[in-house]
Amino acid sequence: MVAALSCVELIDASARASEKAMAAERAETPTRDAARIAPDIDRLPDDSRGREVRMGRALIIETYKLIGPESRDPQSRFAGNNLSCQNCHLEAGAKPHGLSLVGVLSDYPRYAAREGAIETIQDRINDCLTRSLDGRPLPVDSKEMNAIVAYIAFLSTGVEKARRGAGQMAELTRPADPKEGAKAFVENCAACHGADGLGKRRGVVGDAEGYEFPPLWGSDSFNDGAGMGRLIAAANFIHANMPFGATYDHPALTIEQAWDIAAYMVSMDRPHKVDIDKDFPVGVEKFVDAGYGPYVDGLSPSQHKFGPFQPIRDKLEALKRSKSGGQANP
Ligand code: HEC
Ligand code: HEC
Repeated sequence: MVAALSCVELIDASARASEKAMAAERAETPTRDAARIAPDIDRLPDDSRGREVRMGRALIIETYKLIGPESRDPQSRFAGNNLSCQNCHLEAGAKPHGLSLVGVLSDYPRYAAREGAIETIQDRINDCLTRSLDGRPLPVDSKEMNAIVAYIAFLSTGVEKARRGAGQMAELTRPADPKEGAKAFVENCAACHGADGLGKRRGVVGDAEGYEFPPLWGSDSFNDGAGMGRLIAAANFIHANMPFGATYDHPALTIEQAWDIAAYMVSMDRPHKVDIDKDFPVGVEKFVDAGYGPYVDGLSPSQHKFGPFQPIRDKLEALKRSKSGGQANP
């Protein structure tokens, strides 16, 4: 088994090497498609690791079926909505700047400002389960958790540089405008996600088939404590990935449209996460675009929700400096 595995990894390594060489030849930017150099799951043998990694991928793609609120076994209902991880972590976590999960593992454990504590990869996965999936945490030693971690570990094998997150496009100097966003939504999004934004189910309620087009708000969407509910995260995701088929390198919307549409999306009703006022226990570390208080900077909830964000950052920097006795943080 060990021999078979290292053989597979060698094939992966040489495929990666030749892709890299081709990219260099074409004088592409160095980060181009690094995340697509993720190892190929089809080359994994059908042994216990191979099965665990495949189960992890299935959990990312068919979350609603395996651990969703309509899943057959009531014990395994961890997610509270019918989304899948893949609805946001596109191409099962392999799309560059589609909230890629490639290369993520080596970052954990790490300090998380939202929790004010060191977070493991299991904690981070459970953050998405309790916020993006509006559900309850998976036990850290469950077979589902182990499988998701195994899949993320597999995706991270041999990857040095990956195009994580959704990028960081230029920010507006004005507040993003949900009214303008509503107009652009009709033109660019409604055909798939519905004029009401509630998406389109694959089957009928109760059959645990998830969505063909996931909801963007409403009772079956991510909750108000989720990353996708914050403007900067949402606008960058939308710009780099929507309408479906757009990429970071070939976006379909203008930057302004993406900010305004995201503003429209984050202004809509969605489930409430209990205790979100306990997020960010260290006030000056609160993400500038957290749409919920309390805030230590004295700026309005509306500015936190819609921007502009640079004045908030400046204010927080000043607060940090005054706390450390006039010195910049080391
Ligand atoms: C509604 C959208 C959404 C869904 C659904 C979702 N996530 Fe996430 N996830 C996010 C966002 C946004 C981030 C933050 C990305 C960042 O920090 O750049 C994130 C971050 C993560 C991270 C950390 C990535 C990093 O770069 O450190 C992991 C791991 C993760 N999610 C796993 C999952 C798993 C597993 C599921 C399914 C159980 C899931 N997510 C479902 C939106 C989502
Ligand atoms: C051609 C159809 C299509 C169009 C048009 C489209 N989307 Fe999507 N969108 C999808 C699909 C499909 C997914 C889920 C991807 C997956 O599961 O692989 C998705 C996922 C999303 C998600 C993450 C999952 C969730 O439910 O929150 C957001 C946010 C989103 N789209 C916003 C938008 C916005 C805003 C627009 C308009 C600018 C838009 N989409 C246009 C098809 C579309």
